[in-house]
Amino acid sequence: MIDLRSDTVTQPSQAMRKAMYDAEVGDDVFKEDKSVNELEEYAAELLGKEAALFVTSGVMGNQLCLNILTSPGDEIICEKDAHIFNYESSAPSMLSGIQLFPIIGKQGVITPAQVEEAIRPKTAYYMPRTKVIEVENTHNRAGGTIHPLDNIKDLKKVAVAHNLYFHLDGARIWNASVKTGIKVSEYASYFDTVSCCLSKGLGAPVGSIIAGEKDFITEAFRMRKAWGGGMRQAGVIAAAGLYALKNNFERLSEDHEKAAILATTIAECKNVKIDLDSVQTNILIFEILSMSVEEAQIKCKERGLILSIANKKALRAVTHLDINSDDINKAALILREVFNG
Ligand SMILES: Cc1ncc(COP(=O)(O)O)c(C=O)c1O
Repeated sequence: MIDLRSDTVTQPSQAMRKAMYDAEVGDDVFKEDKSVNELEEYAAELLGKEAALFVTSGVMGNQLCLNILTSPGDEIICEKDAHIFNYESSAPSMLSGIQLFPIIGKQGVITPAQVEEAIRPKTAYYMPRTKVIEVENTHNRAGGTIHPLDNIKDLKKVAVAHNLYFHLDGARIWNASVKTGIKVSEYASYFDTVSCCLSKGLGAPVGSIIAGEKDFITEAFRMRKAWGGGMRQAGVIAAAGLYALKNNFERLSEDHEKAAILATTIAECKNVKIDLDSVQTNILIFEILSMSVEEAQIKCKERGLILSIANKKALRAVTHLDINSDDINKAALILREVFNG
């Protein structure tokens, strides 16, 4: 089976497992796990932030950041397809008593003018209080699209002008960085808080990193414990994350090349529609014109290709480190057979 459902389906390599096996560990609740400490220091440096914290998942990372930046009753401005709005089980309301203000963007990007319009007037006590602007880079639901740096800079100006926090869901910031050549520290520098996944394209089995100022991370450490995220000999998994950051970051360009090859194939099939402009990194979302998405998914699976359903009209394919060129050639053949018939 060629599994293109997500870049989260990867298996830890032998070398990664060896790093996990060899990891020096301690009790991380006492901050005594050398491997976790090393990962956090390495990630903070890479992201150009004062401090970082290893957390269990991307959702926990985003939600911890949002919780610490807000008080109950506050509002967060985000794009309508944002992960925090669609795929985090209403956690902002459940865990922090806050609500989201989603704005319709283009390829996941919202403009400073749209954000200005969404900010609540400070004098209106009967309205929610705007507290945070959130950006997702790359943008999952928009198809792995990259948020242009100039727009990030302009959104930052809006945040500063209105005394708002700026949070980055950088689950796949690594992909954006490799594609544009812009350092992750440059991207992160515009944000108060960032959350980045180790378990997506980087191929670690578990874990995310949040980063920001020291005081913020101290608070996040406290809240992570309150949410049941305090881990003990977590160095076993932190070692995989550190291995992933050191060894699997630059190679993400290979995933992008493979996604581009598949995109070309899909564009040539007559029964599907793809916006080639949206294929910027490792995610492809393509509309099925000739059958239901469920039917299309089954036909591909019967031939050895597993895809996920993006929405009622579209399928999703994601390239990752367990997919080689041979797999891409086979996937292309299957796609032609299913969608050119
Ligand atoms: C943009 C984005 N943010 C956050 C997450 C959440 O990550 P996790 O599944 O580790 O909780 C994901 C997962 O797909 C994601 O794509």
